[in-house]
Amino acid sequence: MTYTIFVSCASHLEPLLKQELIQLGYPDVKETYRGVFVNQVPFEAVYEINYCSRLASRVLIPLKKFICTSRESLYQNVYELSWKNYFKRAQSFAIDATVDPKIFRSSLFAAQIVKDAICDQMREETGKRPNVSPYEPDVQLNLFMQGNKAILSYDTSGSALHKRGYRQESGEAPLQETLAAALLTLANFRGDEVVYDPCCGSGTLLIEAAMMASNTPAQFFRKKFGFMNMPDFSEQAWLKLKNQKDAERRSLKAKHFFGTEINKNTFRICQTNLRALNWLKDIHIMQGDFRDVELPVAPNFIICNPPYGNRLNEDPSLVGLYRSLGDLMKQKSAKPGRGFVFTGNLDLAKEIGLAPKKRHVLLNGGIESRLLEFDLY
Ligand SMILES: C[S@@+](CC[C@H](N)C(=O)[O-])C[C@H]1O[C@@H](n2cnc3c(N)ncnc32)[C@H](O)[C@@H]1O
Repeated sequence: MTYTIFVSCASHLEPLLKQELIQLGYPDVKETYRGVFVNQVPFEAVYEINYCSRLASRVLIPLKKFICTSRESLYQNVYELSWKNYFKRAQSFAIDATVDPKIFRSSLFAAQIVKDAICDQMREETGKRPNVSPYEPDVQLNLFMQGNKAILSYDTSGSALHKRGYRQESGEAPLQETLAAALLTLANFRGDEVVYDPCCGSGTLLIEAAMMASNTPAQFFRKKFGFMNMPDFSEQAWLKLKNQKDAERRSLKAKHFFGTEINKNTFRICQTNLRALNWLKDIHIMQGDFRDVELPVAPNFIICNPPYGNRLNEDPSLVGLYRSLGDLMKQKSAKPGRGFVFTGNLDLAKEIGLAPKKRHVLLNGGIESRLLEFDLY
């Protein structure tokens, strides 16, 4: 049996995700808004994409596509599915809904209709009804509507895939893990460069870079996936895939990962994250202003997302910070090297004082931002 699956991602990451899926060995892919369809794949693809994709948000198996114009048509279409087939290993479920406001007044309202239809149908068919549980449900379903076109899917990821399982605590404004991986992908990070994040915060860019360099699967530190409760789940096949991927891990090279963080509490959070990963010795972080720190090795891959305020005149110290980042890249990098700054403030970006070779547009928490790439020679 084969499946068509929908791998969702953040807006602007679609072409990168498509490329990643092709590289994983899935050539029959079709890019669309906020995701990529993968056609005609065996169930094992669900394990592999969930476990290995660094850019995917969720891996969904569409159960039904239908035209939905009212409360009644939503209820009827959901009721018509034989839900006992999907709840074999499960007791609780939750719905994540995205709907068109012209058809439903809110996503919560639509989710409630789906829940009612499933509970009524299961009670009718089996005499029992599943529990609705928004917290770690056994079955996560997804209703996505664009206009009156609805797709109801089984969410094989469970919780979103940016939850890698390594973040113990978050600093202020941490990058989402999938976005950090996207920045490194756009930067064509090879894995053998000496990496430095001068404003490392909780360490997301350094950790994602280290995961890539060590060939560590994106979800190596995560324990739970939605697919584990699916009737088609085979623990044997899952462990086979996981063990194969884990065997491809390699150690990190010494003196290849450096970070600085000025804020004491954020630095402590970064330390806690690295300790939990057992990478405190491999990723060398220092507490202080990057302008005052001397690295033991000159980096040839500098990447960071510095603070960017909202407007140029809100925090004048940021002008100095961006100028210093430019000086750092010019004066302290190994040559030839590459530098990357991810920022939502183009006025501040001009203060770097280097002409970017490339600009990649992305969204960060809904704010249009740019990854600027600099050749350092
Ligand atoms: C947007 S956050 C970076 C978030 C980080 N990428 C993460 O995922 O957690 C910017 C960080 O730069 C730090 N910072 C600001 N000025 C700094 C400086 N002069 N030297 C070192 N760190 C600095 C801030 O304390 C903040 O944690």
